[in-house]
Amino acid sequence: MEMRITLTVDGALHGVTVDTRTTLLDALRDRLGNYAPKKGCDHGQCGSCTVLVNDRRVTSCLSLAVAQEGNDVVTAAGVSADGIHPLQQAFIDDDAFQCGYCTPGQVCSAIGMLDEAGAGAPSHVTEDLDGHVDLTDEEIRERMSGNLCRCGAYPNIVAAIRRVLDADTSSTYTAGADPATPEGAGR
Ligand code: FES
Ligand code: FES
Repeated sequence: MEMRITLTVDGALHGVTVDTRTTLLDALRDRLGNYAPKKGCDHGQCGSCTVLVNDRRVTSCLSLAVAQEGNDVVTAAGVSADGIHPLQQAFIDDDAFQCGYCTPGQVCSAIGMLDEAGAGAPSHVTEDLDGHVDLTDEEIRERMSGNLCRCGAYPNIVAAIRRVLDADTSSTYTAGADPATPEGAGR
């Protein structure tokens, strides 16, 4: 069975007819020619396909395209309208990749993770459940644990995220309006 859906991808509106079994990842790559999200495991285990849907990180291999009707999807190719995103620059500055296959998913996941922490969403290692998240390196590692890196660039990925965090003096990481566990958390 096929369905026509409309969704926004990296700021551009698309209408596409898909088999109802098509994943968002396959729709992005095979139907819309957006190769930023990568297919690693295709089973929700590696995080390389992570994109942002309505500002929340989602493993696109686990989400059906038809579930994205009307949604705003942002891939690593579209995270910044003004060129390179600060997190992408930090990944370069901190040498946070080798082959780069996991990097688009890492960047999208990190952007979503920082928003989740800013909204006060606790992780498995959060000790004080008072709505304030202190983004220690342990917190960053836990919150990024759904994104695997076969090249083992983990220390530098944490350093890159820390660099952006430290530069963001406007952020207090105090609870916002919606501290609910976000979609895709705990992958
Ligand atoms: Fe989606 Fe691995 S390809 S989690
Ligand atoms: Fe190679 Fe992460 S940089 S898999």
